[in-house]
Amino acid sequence: MNIVGIESSCDETSVAVITENKIKSNLISSQEFHTNFGGVVPELSSRAHLQTILPLFKKALNKAEIGLKDINLICATAGPGLIGALLVGLNFAKGLSLSLKVPFVPVNHIEGHLFSGFLMPEKPEFPFLSLLVSGGHTLLLLVKSDTEIIKIGSTIDDAAGEAFDKVSKMLGLGYPGGQKIQEYAERNAEEIVKFPVAKLKSELDFSFSGLKTSVLRFIQENYNGEIPEKDKCLIADSFQKAAVKALTSNFIKALNNYKVKSISIAGGVAANKHLQSEMKMIADKSKIKLVVPELSFCGDNAAMIAYRGFRLFENRIIYPLDYNAFPKLKNNFQLP
Ligand code: KG4
Ligand code: ZN
Repeated sequence: MNIVGIESSCDETSVAVITENKIKSNLISSQEFHTNFGGVVPELSSRAHLQTILPLFKKALNKAEIGLKDINLICATAGPGLIGALLVGLNFAKGLSLSLKVPFVPVNHIEGHLFSGFLMPEKPEFPFLSLLVSGGHTLLLLVKSDTEIIKIGSTIDDAAGEAFDKVSKMLGLGYPGGQKIQEYAERNAEEIVKFPVAKLKSELDFSFSGLKTSVLRFIQENYNGEIPEKDKCLIADSFQKAAVKALTSNFIKALNNYKVKSISIAGGVAANKHLQSEMKMIADKSKIKLVVPELSFCGDNAAMIAYRGFRLFENRIIYPLDYNAFPKLKNNFQLP
């Protein structure tokens, strides 16, 4: 069975072809030009998706060595994300489905990330606890089965990735900032500054705005203009350690509260090496299997969308072709 996945929720256009157990192609085209604006410009993003999607689709089929007639299922991200951007991929997929007369499955982007660990040779086992950290979301999720996803914690303000991006901007390192912060942090040789980790009433929730403000205040109090490279490394390392601590300390609490067979991290921030090594320590200590998606499955990609759509299809969850794009995460995870 050849399953096509299409992703266009933000600044990556991606098309993948997978089968039940193989990734035949997973092409990702990143819109680098947003760097010049310090963040994603929605209107420019939609236009770029429009230009990219057809040639990328053709390339993905070529790489997978299949033709249009070989496609058996079409899955596309329906939300959450930028509405104009989502509409490009979603309508492209609907058009394909209509013309090729093959079923179409709209996919929740967050569920795509959540199940991305299943693209790895060593897969998560139900029930599993997942830390989903991206540019727009920070969630602690208990996943009992394909269709039972329970939110047990989330951010009350900024998302983890958003905090990395904002601190990167403060240090003049550009957008997107996660990778840059990690690189600078790795070069730090000094004793870190202890930035505070928020403690909330609801113990599994997160908050990153206080941490972000502390970093800003530290910069304002200590520098007048340009920050020396060495100090950028120190601030990046101090921020990264505090942010990862905020994530992992809640994860440990959750792990004490819920009995699970495996744990996973997912989303763009899951690419962070410091987060990965701290999670590995938690897993080793608790003698529990940790699944970390490989780098290309952490960020936005269409293989995870194809895979999630396929799982829904297997569970006989099929949606009408007039299913619309949605910008925000709904409370219940599966599409209605
Ligand atoms: O999942 P994703 O690609 O897009 C969304 O669905 O939001 O996540 C993007 C986020 C950005 O905020 C980016 O700065 C962050 O993931 N990110 C990282 C790293 N690589 C990407 N954050 C920390 N460390 C990294 N190595
Ligand atoms: Zn994402």
